[in-house]
Amino acid sequence: MRTHQIVLLPGDGIGPEIISVAKELLEIVSVKFNFELKFVEKKIGGSAIDATGNPLPEDTLQTCRESDAILFAAIGDPRFDILPREKRPETGLLSLREGLKLFANIRPVKIIPSLIESSTLKREVIEKVDLIVVRELTGGIYFGKPKGRVKTEIEERAFNTMTYSNKEIEQIARVAFELSNKRRNKLCSVDKANVLDVSQLWRESVDKVSKDYPNIEVNHLYVDNAAMQLIKDPSQFDVILTGNLFGDILSDEAAMITGSIGMLPSASLSKNGPGLFEPVHGSAPDIAGLDKANPLAMVLSAAMMLKIGLKEVKAAEALEKVVDSVLGKGFSTSDIASKESIEVGCKAMGKELVKELNAI
Ligand code: IPM
Ligand code: MG
Repeated sequence: MRTHQIVLLPGDGIGPEIISVAKELLEIVSVKFNFELKFVEKKIGGSAIDATGNPLPEDTLQTCRESDAILFAAIGDPRFDILPREKRPETGLLSLREGLKLFANIRPVKIIPSLIESSTLKREVIEKVDLIVVRELTGGIYFGKPKGRVKTEIEERAFNTMTYSNKEIEQIARVAFELSNKRRNKLCSVDKANVLDVSQLWRESVDKVSKDYPNIEVNHLYVDNAAMQLIKDPSQFDVILTGNLFGDILSDEAAMITGSIGMLPSASLSKNGPGLFEPVHGSAPDIAGLDKANPLAMVLSAAMMLKIGLKEVKAAEALEKVVDSVLGKGFSTSDIASKESIEVGCKAMGKELVKELNAI
């Protein structure tokens, strides 16, 4: 029997609640499609700081390295906001991305017809949206050096460096071009080349890679314009390629087109190691433990893990289907509820998903 080793990283806030929904569905779907999933759970973020003082314990990183895929829920806890950067929960995730060389972050944004009314944008603007944000994840200003803080007698100054090499840009550009090749053959690269040197190199490097993909129509947008176009006419986009910081911002913006950031999954991939699959949303500490979280982005991340990470395509499609049918029946958590919907909590949503999956 095919066996896959999965590391579960519940993390902080709503993480444990949503990952347990995904785990139950994965267990059922693996039996249905004749493969075995071996789960091992590890700590990261605030929960790891509580247990070990370190947001990414060595044991967590090592277990992830040896796995076939990693399912990650959420990170961040306001209790640690006052700690220095290297001790904060978010540093755990950044170190994991760096440690596993997860340079390619893929964030698909697709409209779910039954949720169209929960978007703040008009139906006619969003109904055809089907785009993917490809975000570079292990470089740029998130990791650039020098960085730090200096105090003089007169003032205190803090600084980070936005830096990319042509190799880093070409590597992520190839991922975006390949994706685009399987889709609508349109790629939009986002930068700030009218101001930043690093963006000029970004643009030149993307153009260089584009020579290998003559069938793909490439355009370049400045990030401010891209942010505006995403609200004005989001269906013009197929694949959006961008750097770490711009991708962070634009992917939250793109997520809200669908109505709730609680719906969007993502994949972070390396050249040949295990991938990490996580919802785009954060740890939502305000609703943690209240059984209010929306587990659907987590479930869709598990589906992405099955499809991209483990090549269990049929099982992935089954999970996507149960999400659609539960929403189609009107069940929704408070973040996506409309007047007509049947509002449920995280656990009840999990139960409905299980019911649908068992019926397949
Ligand atoms: C994301 C998050 C992270 C990021 C945080 C939690 C470090 O916002 O995955 O988009 O900035 O990359
Ligand atoms: Mg973000």
